[in-house]
Amino acid sequence: MTAPLRLGINIDHVATVRNARGGAVPDPVRAALMAEAAGADGITAHLREDRRHIRDADMTAIKAAISVPLNFEMAATAEMQKIALLTRPNAVCLVPERREERTTEGGLNVADDDNRLANYIAPFKDAGTRVSLFIGPEERQVAAAAKIGADIIELHCGTYCDLHDEGRFDERDAELARLTSMAKHAHALGIEVHAGHGLSFDNVGPIAALPEVVELNIGHFLIGEAIFTGLDAAIKEMRRVMDEART
Ligand code: PXP
Repeated sequence: MTAPLRLGINIDHVATVRNARGGAVPDPVRAALMAEAAGADGITAHLREDRRHIRDADMTAIKAAISVPLNFEMAATAEMQKIALLTRPNAVCLVPERREERTTEGGLNVADDDNRLANYIAPFKDAGTRVSLFIGPEERQVAAAAKIGADIIELHCGTYCDLHDEGRFDERDAELARLTSMAKHAHALGIEVHAGHGLSFDNVGPIAALPEVVELNIGHFLIGEAIFTGLDAAIKEMRRVMDEART
């Protein structure tokens, strides 16, 4: 039987809207609680080095408020390691970060940084925090993730989603084949497989249908959709579309 598919909701962009005006609203903690009530299986938040959306106090407040697992997304820096160890999330998801980018544009280069990352994740493993690495669908990155003992890889779906959304279906199918193959490969190596970035009602189906993928992390599209239909309805519709594709 295919493993159930969890839905993690990324609430960063509630904080983006709040920060556009300063002040306290809309509150990302309220969004996290609404997401949980709507059936989210986890909450993801990314504390970026420039604090452009989620801030340190948000992370602490979200962790204290929610009952589902917290996935703490971050760059592999000393500052973030210290904060994450104090926050004690269920998992940390290491992502590459460049200040000039609008969002996380590529996967983490684990293969060329494996010694440093192996040392970097050791304190998390000691603390019982699961370690996820956000990588592109490349064999050398999956191999490096296995080598350093990552618990999870999150496959970067951004290229697949862009190609789908632009109607470039042949290239999309080639990227989907890479994601499919790397999901299988990682699973065979004993790594838990997640996926995320750029997912929407329209493009989520083929990713949700991959049996090795057990969690999707979705943010920007759902927070945007919530403007029109509300967060509860947006999350429930995503759940429905995912479940339909899974069966
Ligand atoms: N997963 C990771 C590792 C990410 O960096 C992001 C974007 O912050 C997401 C999932 C969610 O992507 P989106 O906001 O495009 O749904």
